[in-house]
Amino acid sequence: MSESLNTSSRPRVLSGMRPTGKLHLGNYMGALANWVKLQDSGQYECYFFIADWHALTSDYADPSNIEPNSREVMLDYLAAGLDPQKTVLFQQSRILQHAELPLLLGMITPLGWLERVPSYKEMQDNLTTKDLTTYGFLGYPVLMASDILLYQPKYVPVGQDQQAHVELTREVARRFNNFYKLNGREVLPEPDVLLTPSPKLPGTDGRKMSKSYGNTIELNDPEPVVRQKLKTMVTDPARIRRKDPGDPDKCPVGDLHKVFSTPETLARVYEGCRSAGIGCIECKGWAADALVQILNPIQERRARYTPGEVEDILKDGSDRARTRAEQTMTEVRAAMQLTSAGK
Ligand code: TRP
Ligand code: SF4
Repeated sequence: MSESLNTSSRPRVLSGMRPTGKLHLGNYMGALANWVKLQDSGQYECYFFIADWHALTSDYADPSNIEPNSREVMLDYLAAGLDPQKTVLFQQSRILQHAELPLLLGMITPLGWLERVPSYKEMQDNLTTKDLTTYGFLGYPVLMASDILLYQPKYVPVGQDQQAHVELTREVARRFNNFYKLNGREVLPEPDVLLTPSPKLPGTDGRKMSKSYGNTIELNDPEPVVRQKLKTMVTDPARIRRKDPGDPDKCPVGDLHKVFSTPETLARVYEGCRSAGIGCIECKGWAADALVQILNPIQERRARYTPGEVEDILKDGSDRARTRAEQTMTEVRAAMQLTSAGK
């Protein structure tokens, strides 16, 4: 039989992101580029989504940005190379099964499991401007477990920061399967984490690139903006004057070269920096060249989509995801003997 994109025999993969606004290079290298690789390998049935209800757990007081941000993120997904012909792209809030399953899983999830999730205390300590002592925020991992288990994926590609959430998902699934079975069979398979290797990607201030630090290079930054941001980027603090030698291993610009530049350019950077043969301005120009090369095709793809097309893709993908999610819910309800649910 010829290779078909619809063979459900391929292992399923599912992942998502909160719609925090336009995505940056850190999001791309830490997640999106890997998703595109998984998609293009043809080996997996891919589901990638926008976790807009997750954004609500912290932004409930002013939800006005969530919907516009969801559209920007979908555009960035498409721009990065996710293809609605190959992959199911959807938005969480369009699929009400993402609200039903957390209600049911919440019944069996011990409070202690949630309070012990590392991000729970961390986020509360870090986001001091927002009151996160809510039921919804505590329940974040149950919502996430439901996002995953609804699609019965084999793998969940995430960065290390999300690993604990996937572990909890496995524990919740195990507990569910212990309590409830359908004709003696387990309903919710435990998914495996597929850890995304994420290169060290510094922002313009040298700290990890992150929207909350305001140090990002966005996927949609035009070339002059990329070049300007590079100009302001911090360098090896030992290189004060042009004639001082520096060390690319102690320089955030050097880290960018390691990720994005060709081996030849990287060799020129090491040689020129350590011998003070090149200046930082020149070196930053080369880094900008490499970034622009990565960003150009992404920006060209982004520009091709109209708002109407994005809406169609979201609707279509969400319809497909809903059908899959409902299959799981039918089994979940039956296993829990909720025979009247939804009637
Ligand atoms: N919590 C994830 C993040 O902040 C987003 C997310 C929500 C997710 N649901 C998911 C990731 C399900 C993978 C699978 O990045
Ligand atoms: Fe950093 Fe390049 Fe300057 Fe060396 S030459 S300190 S690697 S910017």
